[in-house]
Amino acid sequence: MKKMDLSKARVLTGVKPTEAPHVGNYIGAIRPAIELAAQAAESYLFIADYHALNIIRDAKELKDYTYLVAASWLALGLDPSRTVFYRQSDIPEIFEITTILSAVTPKGLMNRAHAYKAATDKNKEAGKTGNDVDLGINMGLYTYPILMAADILAPRGTVVPVGKDQIQHVEMTRDIAGSFNHLFGDVLALPDFYVQESTGLLPGIDGQKMSKSYGNHVPVFMDSKQRRKLVMKIVTDSKQPDEPKDPDDSIIYQLYCHFATDAEKAEMRRGFEEGGMGYGDAKKLLFEAIERDLEEPSKLYNELLADRPKIDKWLEEGAEKARETAQKTLHDMRHVIGLS
Ligand code: TRP
Repeated sequence: MKKMDLSKARVLTGVKPTEAPHVGNYIGAIRPAIELAAQAAESYLFIADYHALNIIRDAKELKDYTYLVAASWLALGLDPSRTVFYRQSDIPEIFEITTILSAVTPKGLMNRAHAYKAATDKNKEAGKTGNDVDLGINMGLYTYPILMAADILAPRGTVVPVGKDQIQHVEMTRDIAGSFNHLFGDVLALPDFYVQESTGLLPGIDGQKMSKSYGNHVPVFMDSKQRRKLVMKIVTDSKQPDEPKDPDDSIIYQLYCHFATDAEKAEMRRGFEEGGMGYGDAKKLLFEAIERDLEEPSKLYNELLADRPKIDKWLEEGAEKARETAQKTLHDMRHVIGLS
């Protein structure tokens, strides 16, 4: 991937408030996004609550997850005085822009979206045919890429850090914005996606990719005793402490690399390679390194969760800033399409 000049970029990304972050999210998405925000000229991060509505159908749950996700990002280092931090639902312009973009978006483009295709494929596998392949799929899922395009285009995000699964959505945003500009004039800024390269695959406690759906995840914020139990459950082979082991083959070492200092990493590596480092001791070191990394964030997280008005204040200030640009974008769009 080409090196991107971030000194002029407006980095923008959204997070669905649908689950508590686990260590895989933290290492693979949250930490790099916060680092990127610090390098970029400007950064925007929002809670994609209207996207969550496709999944969550309970008022309390949606509210709780919104605060939980906001508190998580703030606790893990998001600086709301640097990053414009807001709720999607506080920016009404996004939804009017969605309506406008819908008029220039081919239905066939939505048919090709991965999330929609995955849902219809599942129905087909279950034996559904004809109109029934759309069983249980709502329009929110179907038109998801248009709303996501509006999320990006309204505040004029130029660089969108995403996981690989979201690249297609950013490409669709470019397609949709390109159609609009082609029809009405150069109003919308076309964004680039940005995939962080370094992190690779983060294993869960069973060695598969860490994912809530596999049940092998370690939540970022949890009771220390519970976390210790999870770390101790990490799957290993049956090599004895004094036997040499390949560190690159070990889930413990792979996780340790993201939390330990260079000297600590080298020490565990040597212990594995030369023999003398047992799995039990390695797990203990891993647990301690995770605890050290998350000690301060955990405190902050609990304080923030107990003070929702404080979170609200930041989100409202962020929304005010994001709306300034969104209003301007919407104004320009309305003008070129012939609405006053
Ligand atoms: N679709 C993203 C996800 O599922 C979340 C999201 C919504 C987003 N709108 C966005 C990400 C705009 C980047 C830009 O993770």
